Amino acid sequence: MRLTSKSVALIPIIATVVTAAIGATLIAPPAASAATTLGAAAQQSGRYFGTAVAAGRLGDSTYVGILNREFDMVTAENEMKMDATEPQQGRFSYGNADRIVNQARTQGKRIRGHALAWHSQQPGWMQSMSGSALRNAMLNHVTQVATYYRGKIYAWDVVNEAFADGSSGGRRDSNLQRTGNDWIEAAFRAARAADPGAKLCYNDYNTDDWSHAKTQGVYRMVQDFKSRGVPIDCVGFQSHFNAQSPVPSNYQTTLQNFANLGVDVQITELDIEGSGSSQASNYDRVTRACLAVARCTGITVWGIRDTDSWRASGTPLLFDGNGNKKAAYTSVLNALNSADPGTTTTTTTTTTTTTTSNDPGPGGCTASVSLNQWNGGFVATIKVTAGSSALSGWRVTTTLSNGTVTGSWSASGSGTSGTINWSNVDYNGNVPAGQSTEFGFQGSGSGAGLNPSCTAS
Ligand code: G3I
Repeated sequence: MRLTSKSVALIPIIATVVTAAIGATLIAPPAASAATTLGAAAQQSGRYFGTAVAAGRLGDSTYVGILNREFDMVTAENEMKMDATEPQQGRFSYGNADRIVNQARTQGKRIRGHALAWHSQQPGWMQSMSGSALRNAMLNHVTQVATYYRGKIYAWDVVNEAFADGSSGGRRDSNLQRTGNDWIEAAFRAARAADPGAKLCYNDYNTDDWSHAKTQGVYRMVQDFKSRGVPIDCVGFQSHFNAQSPVPSNYQTTLQNFANLGVDVQITELDIEGSGSSQASNYDRVTRACLAVARCTGITVWGIRDTDSWRASGTPLLFDGNGNKKAAYTSVLNALNSADPGTTTTTTTTTTTTTTSNDPGPGGCTASVSLNQWNGGFVATIKVTAGSSALSGWRVTTTLSNGTVTGSWSASGSGTSGTINWSNVDYNGNVPAGQSTEFGFQGSGSGAGLNPSCTAS
């Protein structure tokens, strides 16, 4: 018998129901139909696939064409760094960053903010500062920039590259470090206060190998932050790989061990020098390592075409200089398409409440919520799952009795409190049978009792 797309699509739903009924751990089969872009393929397991974007390339139609088609998360390659956003003390400049943010948002993409505090790419006026004047200037920078972009950023790299290379496992010496060892947690607290809806990440390189002292140093800091309630939600692994710094055999172990601390992990600046099948196989390994870790929420590559890369001579990206897909692209797409739709989680640092409905059958859909609630605010992530027929549009109704929505992404809402009807946006109305898409909103007050329900439209 030939399997129709409809009968194939039923398989994951049946598997889910059986798992629930017998309480056993079953591995769900691969997604029913292969997605044809990186972003859509990643979304099948609730993840994102992003790229670094340079404002100066937004006039390049090949570049923008690939960006719009393939990616659902964007990082400004340089435009949100301290030197770009506060070139003179107290005078903030967001022109190039806004071009990237607006382009991304117009296309329904989310944004990773990079980076609020860093020893490098500081504006000249900051490089010569020290002591409490520098500490205050850094905290003011974090507060101003995170406030300016409040509600628009999925995750901020609050602090970038603060640990030393080599065997010490300690902090990197820098003017910021010399203001006191607590400068990192102070930056995280300032960022949380400025944008409570953004996930707050620590981001670094050479932290991919579990046995490295630097990895262990960052791990101990995150462990300490979690134990003392310092607001940290995620750890970014830059993952710039080449012959001198290959993909470590224990990469997945590293991601999993950090995730086990109760943070999301993200691959934030991936590039792998090389070509052909060996490069493709390394990309496959990295992608599968993320897919195997439930709290690995997404992957960002550090540029689009090889010629856009900071390491262009190493041809480290997924598209060649002409914008053609490389073997590495195909390996990533195939790996994403092989993902178990149930391996991701939207669990966050505080309270998480998830409700799920049974398979609604043909033409229906279900909605579940993952809620991150803190004192005075919340972020809700809603997962919309198609029944045994594909959706061409959906509507989710939520109830917000004691809170007010202040920002949302990937859906349009009919209001900000009480009964709110959320409709899909252009790019996420089509959901294959048995598969899911996500949208979210943040708000003040309480997000309790949202009780989402889904109908096909
Ligand atoms: O835009 C100017 C141009 O006008 C000028 O003619 C030219 C002369 O050198 O410089 C251009 O600016 C360069 C900028 O990239 C844009 O291309 C800067 O010199 C150069 O320093 C800058 O490099 C960036 C680098 O960070 C700086 O640290 C790379 O683009 C960017 O990819 C890289 O990104 C970092 C992450 O932020 C953190 N992790 C490592 C990663 C790779 O180094």
